[in-house]
Parts: sequence; C-alpha cells; structure tokens
Amino acid sequence: MSASVITVETQKDLSHKLIIQRPSFGLSLQGSIRVPGDKSISHRALMLGALAQGETQIQGLLLGEDPRSTASCFQAMGAEISELNTELVRVKGIGLGNLQEPIDVLNAGNSGTTLRLMLGILASHPGRFFTVTGDGSLRSRPMSRVVKPLQQMGAQIWGRKGNSLAPLAIQGQALKPTHYYSPIASAQVKSCILLAGLMTEGQTTVTEPALSRDHSERMLRAFGAELSIESETNSVTITGPAQLHGQSVIVPGDISSAAFWLVAGAIVPGSELVVENVGVNPSRTGILEALALMGADIQLENQREVAGEPVADLRVRSSRLQSCTIAGDIIPRLIDEIPILAVAAVFAEGTTIIRDAAELRVKESDRITVMAQQLNKMGAKVTELSDGMEITGGTPLVGTEVDSHTDHRIAMSLAIAALVATGITTIHRAEAAAISYPNFNTTLQQVCN
Ligand code: S3P
Repeated sequence: MSASVITVETQKDLSHKLIIQRPSFGLSLQGSIRVPGDKSISHRALMLGALAQGETQIQGLLLGEDPRSTASCFQAMGAEISELNTELVRVKGIGLGNLQEPIDVLNAGNSGTTLRLMLGILASHPGRFFTVTGDGSLRSRPMSRVVKPLQQMGAQIWGRKGNSLAPLAIQGQALKPTHYYSPIASAQVKSCILLAGLMTEGQTTVTEPALSRDHSERMLRAFGAELSIESETNSVTITGPAQLHGQSVIVPGDISSAAFWLVAGAIVPGSELVVENVGVNPSRTGILEALALMGADIQLENQREVAGEPVADLRVRSSRLQSCTIAGDIIPRLIDEIPILAVAAVFAEGTTIIRDAAELRVKESDRITVMAQQLNKMGAKVTELSDGMEITGGTPLVGTEVDSHTDHRIAMSLAIAALVATGITTIHRAEAAAISYPNFNTTLQQVCN
C-alpha cells in the first residue's frame, strides 16, 4: 500500500489549492477517525445557551467558521461566551427577551442557519433595532422563506428585492402567534418560527410537507420550552412565552462530515474505516439508507443516546455499488449529503437519479450545477435536472483542475473523488472546507497513510 500525496498551497489571495495525487496502485483507506461536532446542533446550543437563564456548558462544539459566526453575533448582543474549543465552552445566558441592541451590523458570514434562525429571535425582541448581513454567498440566498412567516406574525423586516435578500433591517416587535404551513421541508424555516414563538404569547405552529431535522425541537424541550409534536402531520407547536434554563449539551460528530468518509471507504477498494461517535438522529440518516440501497457495507456499532441525541460508531468496508433512485421524503433527510452521494453514484453500476432536490440550487452554491460541472470535468457522466441529477456510473475519473466555488461540501466531495481519479487533481478554493470541517485535510492524510 502506498500513500496518496496530498499538498496544500496557499495562494496570493489566501485561498488554498488542495493537490491530491493518487498512487498508481494499491491505495486503501484504513483506521478509526472522529469527525467534528454537528454543525446544526452547535448553532442551536450557542443560541439557546445565549437566550437561557444561567450557564450552558457545551462539549464537542464544532469549531468551524459557521458556529463562530453564531457565537460572535450573540456576543455582540450581550451573551458571554468563553473561548471556543471542543472540550468545554461556557455560555452565560442573558435570559429571553434581554438581547441588547448591537452597535454594529450582525455578520452571519457564510452561515444560512445563523442568519435564518437568528431572524426569528431578533424579530421577536420588542423595542430593538438590528441589521444583519453575510458574505457574498449568503447575501444571494433567499430570505423570504423566513421573512414571510415572520411578517405573518407581525414582524417588521426590510431588505433588498422585496425584503428577500440580506442585508436586512429588523425592528423587533411583540409578535402574534400563527400557524404556518411551510411550502418546503426546511429545518431553518421551522426553527426560525419556533424561535420567534418562544417570546410570543400563545401557540405558534409550523407544519412542513416532510420531516426536516428535529434538533431544535429536541433542544428547546431540553432547555424547558413547552412543545407539542404531531408526527402524522409534521407539525410542531410551541407555547410562549417560554422560560429557558441553561443546560449541559454534548454535541455528537456530524453525520454530514462522516458522509465523506463513508463514501470514501465504500469506493476505494480494500478500505475499512470506523467513524466514531456520529450523530444518527433519524431525521439525518437518509445518507445511510441511500448508501445501503446502493449496496454499501456500513454497520452501526455501539449505538447509544448522548444528551438527547442518538449516536453510533459507523464501520464502512469497500464494496461494489449499484445505482438507485433518491427522491421524495428522504431528500430533506440527506440534503447536505447529495454532493458526496453524487460521487458515490459515479462509482455505481447503472444510472442513479436524484430528484425533488431543487433546494440544492440555493445552498452555499448551486450544488446541482457546480457538482455536475466539476465531476464532468473529471470525466464523469452527470446530467443536470431542474431538481436533481442523473449520474451514469462506471466511467473512470481522471485528475484535473476543479473548483469548490467556495462551497465547503463541494470542496470535500471533490477531494474524495480525487482519491479514485488517476493522476493529479487540483481543487481550487479548498479552504472552504473550514466552514464545517477545519481538520479535513489532516484526516484525509491520516486515512490515506
Ligand atoms: C440546517 C438545515 C438545512 C441544511 C443546513 C443546516 C439547519 O437547511 O441544509 O445545512 O441546521 O437547520 P434547510 O433548512 O434550508 O433545508
């Protein structure tokens, strides 16, 4: 077995080129690894900790750029947050309704979760004025999906393009409760409304067309909010005003980050990897079901519950993959894993069809166009559909120059594709991985050795 050569070159504009040279024969991936903390849970722990009374202790927080954006926004509104590290972060909450008016624009960086969830909190803080923005990607992502339901509750929000794009200005109000029927299954929309409902007198309900991740519901309950859930209709009701009390949160490893190693282990012949301590909340495990459908050999070991979230170690061994169709209600349960699933499909026999995933077009990049273009540059056969992709597997990949389009999940998906491409693959703007996975390159090197 010989190792892949992995090098990082920092460019004049501080972007990174990740250069991966696959050995001419015999690469197999081996070892036990841990992935960083779950991004969705990390945001929510910081936010609820800031809004609660008393201290919240967070173990295993993701130290990626997105949670850092959340922490700095809430610090700017008076929450005391200790230095961010994975061991223990302490958040001294200021109590619901006590956010201070920040003296500057709140910057959510690249993070849609920070901006959309925070809007629900800001809009329901009477008598305070807030301005929020983000980086170039976030300023182009649709905010009307949260602005509209908040307006239905009486919120006052202004922004470009009919109040649909950041920067946004918010005049906090006492809101009125509502029942919002969301046209899309989105945890960001659901969570935004539930957070607005925290301070709103009465019952605020969200109904979504399919179940999206339920971390907000679990954590709101753990912090003391009154929530009722009707699973048959995918509805959640929060009764406000709530009282939140600081808690101890243990953040499991992020299944969205584990997905890169699950696919790598499945497609690189002779591999066996164990990804330890991964969150396997059923609203997030669509990736495991899709890979099982494709014939991947993945076992869940040591299943347990940690601080209200199911957790397991995932063992993957390489196997022959076959195509499948992924569409319908499973999509929100694997939406962030579709770029890496597309890489798996390139190595599967037959044509894989991914549909009902138009949401991918409004993520950190247009993930349908970008994945199709970049994989095709490497020799894959990917056809764009309006709401997904059609991927015919079996054509060998050839290393070439590809680009992340500053999207973290694209950067990492292309790095895994490079492990099975002949020759040298250069991934431009690979530093984007640090949004959700700061040590990605180190683990890549580790599993290749
Ligand atoms: C997230 C929800 C999902 C997901 C995003 C994180 C969350 O977005 O894609 O990465 O933490 O609530 P949508 O709610 O827009 O589907």
